[in-house]
Amino acid sequence: MQTSYSILLEEAKYILAGEASVTEKLQAICNLLEERVAHYDWVGFYFADAEKRLLHLGPYKGEVTDHTIIPFGKGICGQVAESNQTFLVEDVRAQTNYIACSLTVKAEIVVPLFVDGKNIGQIDIDSHTLNAFSKEDQKFLETLNEAIASLCF
Ligand code: SME
Repeated sequence: MQTSYSILLEEAKYILAGEASVTEKLQAICNLLEERVAHYDWVGFYFADAEKRLLHLGPYKGEVTDHTIIPFGKGICGQVAESNQTFLVEDVRAQTNYIACSLTVKAEIVVPLFVDGKNIGQIDIDSHTLNAFSKEDQKFLETLNEAIASLCF
């Protein structure tokens, strides 16, 4: 049975409350989510350089990606950098402004990370399953990002 999101959230908070560096904590959260949620096939963080309007790849778990730097406005990630809103993509083929990392990816969700009201980056999750993400995933990831913001930054 898939671990419930409330248990995962508690485990994530335990990681965040620890002594490790921010990078190590975020890496541990990527590992936790990718390993424990069946429909999360790639989990990573991007962080914004607001001056240069670029997103830089941070810790991630999953296939190596070429997209380590994404300009604001480009792809799902770049759009979230500008919109400040969660982007839930049921079918990536239906998106015209999309950056493909792998042909096996069918769905994606990108949730902004706000620190003191500022969009400093995002968590990006890819799935090999069409329509993989629900409002429950969205709520879980938004709550997770709130915990990351308050415990990590
Ligand atoms: N698909 C993303 C690019 C990042 S990869 O999924 C790791 C996008 O369209 O922004």
